[in-house]
Amino acid sequence: MAKATIQYVCSSCGAKAPQLLGRCPVCGEWGTYEEEVVESRQHSAISRQISKTSLPQRLQDVQATEEMRIDMRNGEFNRVLGGGLVPGSLVLLGGEPGIGKSTLALQVLMQQGERKTFYASGEESARQIKLRAERIAGNAENLYISSETSLERILEQVKELEPEIVVIDSIQTIGTEAIEATIGSLSQVRECAARIMEFAKTRNIPFIIIGHINKEGSLAGPKVLEHIVDTVLQFEGDQQYMYRILRAQKNRFGSTSEIGIYEMQQNGLREVTNPSELLLSTAREGLSGIAIAAAVEGVRPFLIEVQALVSSAAYGTPQRSSTGFDGRRLNMLLAVLEKRVGFKLLQKDVFLNIAGGLKVQDPAIDLAVLAAVLSSNMDIALDAGTCLCGEVGLAGEIRPVNRIEQRIAEAQKLGFKRILIPAEQKIDAKRYSIEVVGVKKVTDAFRLLIKG
Ligand code: TYD
Ligand code: MG
Repeated sequence: MAKATIQYVCSSCGAKAPQLLGRCPVCGEWGTYEEEVVESRQHSAISRQISKTSLPQRLQDVQATEEMRIDMRNGEFNRVLGGGLVPGSLVLLGGEPGIGKSTLALQVLMQQGERKTFYASGEESARQIKLRAERIAGNAENLYISSETSLERILEQVKELEPEIVVIDSIQTIGTEAIEATIGSLSQVRECAARIMEFAKTRNIPFIIIGHINKEGSLAGPKVLEHIVDTVLQFEGDQQYMYRILRAQKNRFGSTSEIGIYEMQQNGLREVTNPSELLLSTAREGLSGIAIAAAVEGVRPFLIEVQALVSSAAYGTPQRSSTGFDGRRLNMLLAVLEKRVGFKLLQKDVFLNIAGGLKVQDPAIDLAVLAAVLSSNMDIALDAGTCLCGEVGLAGEIRPVNRIEQRIAEAQKLGFKRILIPAEQKIDAKRYSIEVVGVKKVTDAFRLLIKG
C-alpha cells in the first residue's frame, strides 16, 4: 500500500521542506509554501520511464539518427521548437492569462490540414472553442475537440482517437484521479505532467500543454514542471501592443536563442516574418530622443527603435525608468555618459523605452540607447537615415558585437543610408551599398550623429 506523508513545497521554486515555512530559504519568496500529500507511488511515473532502459549500453552501440520532426506548418512555431515538433515530446506553452496561448495552440492545430489532431480543454466548452475557431482562419477538417477536466478521460480519448498532435489547455485545469489533491494545486499539476510525459513517450504522440503564469512571471507550479517537460515555450507580449513573442526557455531538442514573432489580429495570430517593418515607426523624422539600433535576437537581425526622454527632475531624486531594456544597464550607460563624455545628468529624469513593447537583451543596442539619451537631452533629432550597433564598455569604448554582417544587411535592406559599427570589426564595406562607419568611442559616434 502506498503510504501517504505530507511535505511542503515552495510554489515559486519547487524547494521542499518537512514543515511549513513562511519564507523560502532557497528563493527568498514569502508565503509560497503549499502542503503536498506525497504517496510513494507518486514518483513512479518518472522512475518507470527510466527503468525501462536501465541496462548500460556501449555508447558506440546506441543507434542515434537525427530526430524526426513534425513540420507544424507554422514557420515561427517551427523555428522556436528548433525545426519542428519532436514526436513523443512534451512541450509546455506558458504565458500570462489573455496573452493568446489558447489562440496560438488552436490555430496551430487548425493549420494541420489532413492530420488528425486533438484539442482538450478544461477551460472552455466545445461551443466556446468552436466560436474561437470560427474567428481563426484555417482548415480544421481533422481537428477533434473535447471539453474535459479528467486526465484519465483525456488520455482514454487520445488512445481511441490516435491523433498526431495533442493540446491540453490548461495543465492547471485538469486533474488525475490517482491523487487526492485539488485541481490546480502543485501536486496535481506535477502528477498530471509526469503522467502525460510517460504517456507521450510510450505512445510516441507529442503533447503541448498550456500553463498559466502568475503576475511575477513564473509558471504556477513552475520549476517542478520545467524539470519534467522537454521544452518550455514562453508566450509573451504587452497587452497594449499586438506583438507576441514566442521564446524557448528550455529545449531538449534545439537552441533556446530563437524567437518567433506574431501579431494578434481579429482573425488570430499572424506570423511576422519581417519584424523590422513592424517595429520602426514611420513618423520618426525630425523627432529628438529616437535612435535606431540594429539588434539580433537568436539568430535573427531586426531594427528597433530606442526612445529616450530626458527632462529636469521635478523633485530631489531624479527618476530612471526603463521599459524593454535592463534598468541596471541603463544606469551603467548613464554613468559612462557622465564620466567619459562629460554629460551632467545628475539632476535629470531619464526615461527609456524600446518601441513596440519588445524586451531586448542584446548588448549591441547600447550605442543606440546612449544616442537616444543624448538626442533627447540636447533636443536635437538624429539623422533618420543612420542606424547604430555596438556594445558600450565602461571606458566609453565601443566593443564588438556578434553577427555584424547580418545587422548591416538588415539595415541596408530597410533602406538606411549609414550604419555605425564598432571600429574593431573588420568587414568588407564594398560588399554593401549602405555606408559602413567604424567608431571607436562613444564620443566619435556622437560627433558623427550630431553633425548629421
Ligand atoms: P487567449 O488565446 O484566450 O489567451 P490565453 O489562452 O493566453 O488566456 O487570447 C485572448 C485574447 O486574444 C482576447 O483578448 C481576444 C484576443 N483575440 C484576438 O484578438 N483575435 C482572435 O482571433 C482571437 C481568437 C483572440
Ligand atoms: Mg486560454
